[in-house]
Amino acid sequence: VFGARVTDRNSPIFVLDSGLGGLTVVRAILSQLPGERVVYFGDTARLPYGSKTKETVTAFVRQIINWGSRIRPKCVVIACNTASALALPGIKLEAGTMIMAGVIEPGARAAATAAGTDERATIGVIATEATVRSQAYQNAIRRRRRLVHLLVQPTPLLVPMIEEGRTGDDPVVELALRQYLQPMLARGINTLVLGCTHYPLLTPAIQRIVGPNVKVIDSARKCAHDIARRLDDADLLASCADDSAMQKIDAKRLSIYVTDDPDRFQRLAPRFLGFEVDAPTLVPPEVLYHAIDTRASELRPSA
Ligand code: DGL
Repeated sequence: VFGARVTDRNSPIFVLDSGLGGLTVVRAILSQLPGERVVYFGDTARLPYGSKTKETVTAFVRQIINWGSRIRPKCVVIACNTASALALPGIKLEAGTMIMAGVIEPGARAAATAAGTDERATIGVIATEATVRSQAYQNAIRRRRRLVHLLVQPTPLLVPMIEEGRTGDDPVVELALRQYLQPMLARGINTLVLGCTHYPLLTPAIQRIVGPNVKVIDSARKCAHDIARRLDDADLLASCADDSAMQKIDAKRLSIYVTDDPDRFQRLAPRFLGFEVDAPTLVPPEVLYHAIDTRASELRPSA
């Protein structure tokens, strides 16, 4: 459905999320992969995904990838745990040979390793309600460590607080984190997966609360490692010209599209990326519905 694999090394990586959270993946991609260009799609009009059903989230993701396929990306990254959990398995079947990456498998793999082999090893996962309900992390971790102790906690207050611009020093955020993490700490977790791409923004506060002995796994960074490996395997890493401007982690390598309120996105994005961005381009959701219709009629055999 989404077209064949693009074999041009210099084509961009298409990254999508419900809002700002996927920018933590973009930041990791830009810093780990110096030659790459990224096109980012934040579905801000329809956020949050974390409280929606599999059918709805899958339909949204399919529309966005359909729209994005016009830029002929060499790789599509679902930089949202909720969408990776609910939509990626089905969407992969429609993706043909296109390289598709998500955040759950790399996060689960890293957690299974970090937890160690001690029989008391206990992995905690915090994520949106939909990700927890999908059992995606539970299954992905159990595939690697069948007997590890696992505690999974939905943390629905965190995304709205982060999208509102609150940080880890905010007393309301601190209180919510303590409430969510205390029961896991009481049961002795030694590894904690940040199972939502928004959460790395709170890493310092989370690490402070769980203490230095708990390994905190950032699924966004692990996802960027995975993309690097897969592009390299496919011989699709961008050739990084000897051009220092190319190597800088800045807005020149990134274009952003959102479905609502580009100004707000532009204002908040630097907190996720560490640099200022150009004004995002608005793509109203009805354009996405139209993208599907147009492609469907293109695919229909002519009478
Ligand atoms: N960033 C998304 C994730 O990784 C959650 C945001 C939302 O609920 O839309 O799960």
